[in-house]
Amino acid sequence: MVLQLPAEKIPIQEIPIDKKIRLFIKREDLIHPQISGNKYWKLFFNINKYLAEKPEKPYVITFGGAFSNHIAAVSAVGSLAGIPTLGMIRGEELKDKWLQNPTLLFAKKNGMNLQFVSREEYRHKEKLTEFLKTEFPHALVVPEGGTNEEAVEGIKMMLNDDTKDFDYLCTAVGTGGTISGISKFCEENQKVIGFKAVRDNSLEDSISKLTRRRNFDLIDSSFGGYGKINDENIRFINDFKLNYGIPLEPIYTGKMMQKIFELIEEGYFPENSKVLCFHTGGLQGIEGANVLLEKQNRNLII
Ligand SMILES: Cc1ncc(COP(=O)(O)O)c(C=O)c1O
Repeated sequence: MVLQLPAEKIPIQEIPIDKKIRLFIKREDLIHPQISGNKYWKLFFNINKYLAEKPEKPYVITFGGAFSNHIAAVSAVGSLAGIPTLGMIRGEELKDKWLQNPTLLFAKKNGMNLQFVSREEYRHKEKLTEFLKTEFPHALVVPEGGTNEEAVEGIKMMLNDDTKDFDYLCTAVGTGGTISGISKFCEENQKVIGFKAVRDNSLEDSISKLTRRRNFDLIDSSFGGYGKINDENIRFINDFKLNYGIPLEPIYTGKMMQKIFELIEEGYFPENSKVLCFHTGGLQGIEGANVLLEKQNRNLII
């Protein structure tokens, strides 16, 4: 198996906040240096099942934006397994700029072929997927963000005896695969909260379809929109790292954690609640974010 079960338990750390609730973080970001957090688990069954079938000409194809953690992770899996990968990247304009983009450079170094498609073409990913499946009948075509039924099964591995003891389970939400797995496999008495990094009103329905349970709430924590990096959030991320020694990134986990702190201040969680948030990784994105911030003469993420 290319993606193995970790030899040791993923640590859960308490974040000392001096409030009437207790806050913890499960460090899925530590699972693998390059395939980190939820990406590891979303790819776990997708990749392992595909390779177990011993495909004639193995090839993994997927989709993502310029700073996509998923693209970075799939390219790393390809390099690890010695199989070619293809990334369909949103934005034709990146064709001449990928050298300045740390995520795409990392993917390229891992041997990923990059195909840049217009935003219009990218919007119709289903059509592209059909085309790619015909063109490469032996390939595994993984959807954007890696979200599908296999991904949901993989996310189950983030839950274990150690996570049963919490009243609230929190995760950042992009395409909805991670929260679907948590909400599908958590305990009856647990409440799941998804912190939406993207303003997408269809998420509630798509998550319900994958999880078939209604034990989750979604809270907008996009802070100005998907991928928008705001200065207050940078301050929060930097303070968080200085205070607790835990790095966060500005697209998903940084925004989720800032929102959780706001909710705690507002008294959202009842007294004595135990709240667990999942660190879903994505720290590779900090370098790319800093390239943009530097160009704009703004404070950087430490
Ligand atoms: C770091 C990080 N956290 C959270 C998410 C959201 O996961 P999902 O797309 O499964 O909702 C992503 C996207 O995969 C991510 O890269």
